[in-house]
Amino acid sequence: MRRGMFITFEGIDGSGKSSQAQLLTDTLKTLGHDTLRTREPGGSQGAEEIRRLLVEGDPDRWSAMTEILLFTAARRDHLEKTIKPGLAAGKIVVSDRFADSTRVYQGAARADLRDVVDQLHALMIGREPDLTFIIDMDPAAALTRGLARQSGEDRFEELGLEFQEKLRTGFLALAKDFPDRCHVINGARDMDVIAAGIAQITSDYLK
Ligand code: ADP
Ligand code: TYD
Repeated sequence: MRRGMFITFEGIDGSGKSSQAQLLTDTLKTLGHDTLRTREPGGSQGAEEIRRLLVEGDPDRWSAMTEILLFTAARRDHLEKTIKPGLAAGKIVVSDRFADSTRVYQGAARADLRDVVDQLHALMIGREPDLTFIIDMDPAAALTRGLARQSGEDRFEELGLEFQEKLRTGFLALAKDFPDRCHVINGARDMDVIAAGIAQITSDYLK
């Protein structure tokens, strides 16, 4: 049986992660791979409940520290209930966001809490993806896309353009910290063109 593989999509809000996670999953399925698409925060029943606490309501609802704990609790449940069982069954698990989001959103952009994020990750998660696609694009364009969705989950998007600029810088720095698994993808192109590039990198990895 083929060993499982863990792929994540990262980037600022509205950059096209969900669309690309869906397109890659479809392509992998067409190629005959057993594939599981999931997301964070969420991806398991308990983590989806925590997601609601995180993405709805006032932007100042939680302290930075409480927020890190909630994201980590959700991730631990997601890992136990969805990711690990999927990988153990030999699946390709594709997640829309994972630990890099906490490193950037909580660890760099909002407060200098990267040490806490890293320690909690080591203690509670301890797993990195095999392959990470960082979808990079201009925050102003991404913000317009995201707010146009009107999903009712805009607590983070409402933090504004300056914040999204910091996130972009944070994700690009992260790609340099983890060059083996991270691929920076230009998200300001046609969806299908982006998807083709991502599918190519994934098939090269699978060879
Ligand atoms: P994210 O998951 O990063 O927030 P989504 O995949 O949900 O982003 O995309 C946000 C919005 O932008 C959606 O309405 C989606 O259809 C649109 N979108 C995604 N990728 C592209 C693209 N390459 N070009 C134009 N619009 C896009
Ligand atoms: P998501 O549903 O991926 O939002 P979007 O589709 O707009 O990109 O994630 C919800 C929000 O949660 C998003 O603004 C990013 C934020 N987030 C963190 O701040 N830390 C994390 O660890 C994760 C996973 C998400």
